[in-house]
Amino acid sequence: MTTWPAYAVVPAAGAGQRMATHVPKQYLVLAGRTVLEHTLACLAAEARIARIVVAVGADDEHFESVRARLPDKVERVTGGTERCHSVLAGLHALARTAPAQAWVLVHDAARPCLRGSDLARLLDELAADAVGGILGNPVRDTLKRCAANGAVAATVDRAALWHALTPQMFRLGALIAAIESALAAGVIVTDEAQAIERLGHTPRVIAGHGDNLKITHPDDLALAELILAAQGRATGGTACE
Ligand code: CTP
Ligand code: MG
Repeated sequence: MTTWPAYAVVPAAGAGQRMATHVPKQYLVLAGRTVLEHTLACLAAEARIARIVVAVGADDEHFESVRARLPDKVERVTGGTERCHSVLAGLHALARTAPAQAWVLVHDAARPCLRGSDLARLLDELAADAVGGILGNPVRDTLKRCAANGAVAATVDRAALWHALTPQMFRLGALIAAIESALAAGVIVTDEAQAIERLGHTPRVIAGHGDNLKITHPDDLALAELILAAQGRATGGTACE
């Protein structure tokens, strides 16, 4: 079965409504480079990934201005209304030439702090897997189920609970079929694993580091910048560990 090369799709077509900045969050500058540049640099540094398709919004005004600073193996497609539509657009672009059995990694543009070592471990651990899987992180806080007014209704056992991170790694043809099946059923999946699970398959979770945060709220920016600096990825740094 085909193992390498693998391919990547980076959904970057979101409006960043929770961030509420004028510039969409994937184009905010952190530690000297845009969030998108950090994200793509990490994926591009992994030699097993041959091509990276970035899905940007139809009315994106920023991609071309960063284009010259992006790795050569990056390509652009137009994303869609929801994240899953953007991912599907990227997958279809790859499927024109890549084999259906090829591994594809879907990674949020808004996760610039991915460690190269976590990416490499995901590829290593899943290389021989039949289905694929995702990076995850065990839930560490005590969890409460609350009513709308904030009153605690129950304490939830966190023992088996994980945060689903990205990259998420599945076979190209299987992932297209799974997302199309979900859309046909009117289900908007929020990650790739959910689409694969719907068809009765069992993705694996590979433990990654919790600093692979998704920039979502304004408070996340300072933390992401600190993490990038600590990883040696501030301006001038090239390390991706
Ligand atoms: N995304 C996308 N296409 C969409 C929606 C989201 O490609 N129609 C991408 C975002 O650009 C981001 C990733 O999916 O890289 C994760 O989504 P999220 O963090 O929710 O980003 P936004 O949708 O931009 O933010 P918000 O939900 O706050 O509007
Ligand atoms: Mg969103």
